[in-house]
Amino acid sequence: MAELIKVATVRDVAPGEHKIVMAGDTKIGIVRDAAGNWFAIEDVCTHDGGPLAEGEVEGTRIYCPRHGAKFDLKTGKALTLPAFGKVGAWPVVIEGNDVKIQRA
Ligand code: FES
Repeated sequence: MAELIKVATVRDVAPGEHKIVMAGDTKIGIVRDAAGNWFAIEDVCTHDGGPLAEGEVEGTRIYCPRHGAKFDLKTGKALTLPAFGKVGAWPVVIEGNDVKIQRA
């Protein structure tokens, strides 16, 4: 059963910004695009450990700042080399001022 975990407040992450949080042992980037949409993606690139959440966001894609691999922010799927492994990605739920991620 999926559980909602509070990871931040709405004020913690402005549009176009990100915040790194820990959920257990997992380092997660809470990412907002310029339009204010929310995403949660594992902050460790599967190519060489790059800080994925620091990458440029384009639509529902994010580019690893280290070598440019592109990932889908909704699924975590690697879309271009040099990465080919998936990263974790979780739905974000906003409840009042709380930012929560949905984990299985
Ligand atoms: S560490 Fe992300 S593309 Fe190399």
